[in-house]
Amino acid sequence: MSNAAVSVPADHLMGVYNRAPLAFLRGEGVRLTTTDGEVYLDCMAGIATCGLGHAHPRLVAAVKRQSEKLWHVSNVFRIPEQEALAARLTEASFADVVFFTNSGAEALECALKTARKYHAARGAPERIDIIGFEGAFHGRTYATINAAGNPSYLEGFGPKLPGYVQLNFGDHDALKTAIAQPTTAAVLVEPVQGEGGARALPDACLRGLRELCDQHGVLLIFDEVQCGLGRTGQLFAHEWAGAATPDIMALAKALGNGFPVGACLATAKAAQGMTVGAHGSTYGGNPFAMAVALETFDELSKPDLLAHVREVAGYFTQQLEGLKTRFPDIIVDIRGRGLLIGIKLIPNNRAFMALARDQHLLIAGGGDNCVRLLPPLVISLEEAREAVAKLEATCEAARQAALAEQSGTTP
Ligand SMILES: Cc1ncc(COP(=O)(O)O)c(C=O)c1O
Repeated sequence: MSNAAVSVPADHLMGVYNRAPLAFLRGEGVRLTTTDGEVYLDCMAGIATCGLGHAHPRLVAAVKRQSEKLWHVSNVFRIPEQEALAARLTEASFADVVFFTNSGAEALECALKTARKYHAARGAPERIDIIGFEGAFHGRTYATINAAGNPSYLEGFGPKLPGYVQLNFGDHDALKTAIAQPTTAAVLVEPVQGEGGARALPDACLRGLRELCDQHGVLLIFDEVQCGLGRTGQLFAHEWAGAATPDIMALAKALGNGFPVGACLATAKAAQGMTVGAHGSTYGGNPFAMAVALETFDELSKPDLLAHVREVAGYFTQQLEGLKTRFPDIIVDIRGRGLLIGIKLIPNNRAFMALARDQHLLIAGGGDNCVRLLPPLVISLEEAREAVAKLEATCEAARQAALAEQSGTTP
């Protein structure tokens, strides 16, 4: 270890985040107001979390109501709000049972344990391998960084865990070989990669995965933490692929609209090993979180909202393709699905996000030098138009910055 003096950061926070120099005081719909009174158009929604925008009246009312009733008991008791949300989630999906968590990574932890325990319960404990894909992101716990396999997130945290295999996106031969191994437990995939740069897996691939898993008795896990709950214009992103339902699915982010809650959904068959004592959580599914998530889920699953997402997404895609044509020196690709939109850039994505902030527009970063547009799903067409105008101004500023750099002057 280095003997150099280690300084204490002025904010006393562990320095794991690269934070933008903004602090917000309040939010309403798609607008956020800073402590200095500056208003920003929010096209990142807490990274695909505030699907219903900020300070949604129905959710504010739910929080107020529940805060005066009951916050927490324990999972050693029945929690009626949990049973109500589990009924809603299973009714709306492939699943029969749900385990509630506080975050996406914990929902994935439960998914991974459920898959391994399934095989153990059926007399095949050697089936431990989880097949994942390059560019994936599943969270920052030890299991989830191993499942995603991104070297920069694994570095310095000791040996890579056994039982995690990563394949290249689109390498069908490697996939067929890996799934056929007698030690394979499950395939884990985001139907639309989020952090990896808004890459949608083609519907035919999702269906092909389902068939391959069935052929080899392997479970299929979808990570819909980011792409689920209306973000793509279907309640769950995999619904675009018809029959390609998973055995297990992780949800979080939009489920609480910012209140920390996640869920691991499974078929009764896949969850057969998850018997009393196999898993647990102090806070997971407490009455407070459930009260908020019940109202949120009710809003997110409305067909009108999903139709609205498809309409605004169509508008964005058309307009962004236009920007790509006008700014070929800035934009190389428009990708993603619904309101999980990726813009692959030529200039550095972090610098582009800073230029967008100059326009009072908030956008998220992403892998593969992308920026992501992840607005609240309730964004109106008028607000989407405003976002496109701000993006156009950002592209223009990025062009001027690149030209100035080439000529050695500062803009
Ligand atoms: C696809 C996906 N899975 C899992 C996670 C982890 O969720 P959390 O940060 O709530 O643990 C994220 C977070 O960005 C995600 O995008």
